[in-house]
Amino acid sequence: MERFLPPAKVPRPLVIVTPLLESHIQAAISCSKQHGMQLRVRSGGHDYEGLSYISYQAPFVIVDLVNFQSIDIDVENSTAWVQAGATIGQLYYTIAKKSPTLGFSAGVCPTVGVGGHFSGGGYGMMSRNYGIAADNIIDARLIDVNGRILDRKSMGEDLFWAIRGGGAASFGVVIAWHIKLLSVPETVTVFTVNRTLEQNATKIVHRWQSIAEKIDEKLLLRLFLSRENSSQYGKETVQASFVTLYLGGVDTLLPLMQQNFPELGLVRSDCIEMSWIDSILYFAGYSGEPLEILANRTSSRTGTYFKGKSDYVTEPISETGLESIWKRFLEYPEEMNQMQFSPYGGRLSEVSATATPFPHRAGTLYSIHYGVWWTEPGENALNRYLRAIRRFYRFMTPYVTKNPRSAYLNYRDLDIGVNNRGNTSYEQASNWGLKYYGINFERLVHVKTKVDPGNFFRNEQSIPPL
Ligand code: FDA
Repeated sequence: MERFLPPAKVPRPLVIVTPLLESHIQAAISCSKQHGMQLRVRSGGHDYEGLSYISYQAPFVIVDLVNFQSIDIDVENSTAWVQAGATIGQLYYTIAKKSPTLGFSAGVCPTVGVGGHFSGGGYGMMSRNYGIAADNIIDARLIDVNGRILDRKSMGEDLFWAIRGGGAASFGVVIAWHIKLLSVPETVTVFTVNRTLEQNATKIVHRWQSIAEKIDEKLLLRLFLSRENSSQYGKETVQASFVTLYLGGVDTLLPLMQQNFPELGLVRSDCIEMSWIDSILYFAGYSGEPLEILANRTSSRTGTYFKGKSDYVTEPISETGLESIWKRFLEYPEEMNQMQFSPYGGRLSEVSATATPFPHRAGTLYSIHYGVWWTEPGENALNRYLRAIRRFYRFMTPYVTKNPRSAYLNYRDLDIGVNNRGNTSYEQASNWGLKYYGINFERLVHVKTKVDPGNFFRNEQSIPPL
């Protein structure tokens, strides 16, 4: 996250610990406690607000799990142990090396770390069929505030529940996850179909809202909205890109689309059949590259600043509503670079809203991800872009969930509330807690009170003890 690199004025850590052994993590916890230091745990470092390596409650120590990357696949039992410092790209790559018919349901960007990603949910292209990453965790190893190494049995079901969607950073240091691997067919189908406003995008997006959540769960039609040059000279338009994964072949996909979503006008030549692991490359923008690129931990996006926010939608937005969103989207050249609409339904709705702390289940049509990217350094540009995305978010209020206005923890957003540089009250934490966790916030507070009553594991948006 370029936004937090020098010369940005953010607090720097006193020490960075890169443990080689579990006992080094235990020592880091014990030492930090003794010396009154804050501790930040970093796995993949993709936190939108940099909370794995910045603390506004200095002095602080970073425990960077870069040396905890091992992945053990058990093909026979379709399970794997994956250490918290591994990336999802490494995980996908390692699974694919062992079996062409096993996969896992997690995010799209290969450099995201499993430590933060799984503990905050983990939505990806198979989520309508298999749920989020957190739904497929069967055990974990965690070091608690007393330095004890716990597994599911010894930590108990409350704590095991809390770290699968509640953000593990409030509860301890996850060392490894035990996950259930998921069956994938030998052939999947992908497509990206673009439609601009001149090509009827408003009507197609309107229709998408009522089918994307209901359609066969093997099909995930993700929608990216961006600003493009219009066919009318000198004008800009909104382009809707339908980026899709179908867990099956094109021969079954085409009739399914024809029956449910003829408005898109999908034809056979739009579709590409491939293996599941090649679809991972496709969605990551690496088509044609060797698989090994998935194991590369370095992001290709450097020199780019970013701010993201999120929303959830439970009622379809009317065509008039969509038209005013497009108008606003096009009004300011720099305002919004992209919106992603990610469909829910399928397995995501079958899991109850309290089964994990991730509450966005039945009734959710789709989530919205807002993002601004920019390359101009300096505070003026930063403030301009932050103002722009915040203005757009305010504008979206009538179209999204209310009381609370839900948000996705993995798209961390400090605008929705931060603690007061220390111990946070239940009331204050409700600001962001109810948005991220809904009805699960209260249970998270109870678990926190039980396992870390002294609030050692805290950050700007952590769960407070009572
Ligand atoms: P990082 O290391 O920054 O940790 C994030 C948080 O978890 C911090 O609070 C940290 O302290 C804590 N933490 C990390 N490791 C821990 C551990 N071992 N024990 C306890 N606490 C720990 N999301 C999604 O659902 N689907 C997607 O497709 C994407 N795509 C995507 C692309 C890009 C480019 C970015 C930057 C982000 C995403 N995300 C996403 C969001 C992503 O899921 C989110 O940022 C995760 O928290 C990242 O996990 P990391 O381990 O990389 O982050």
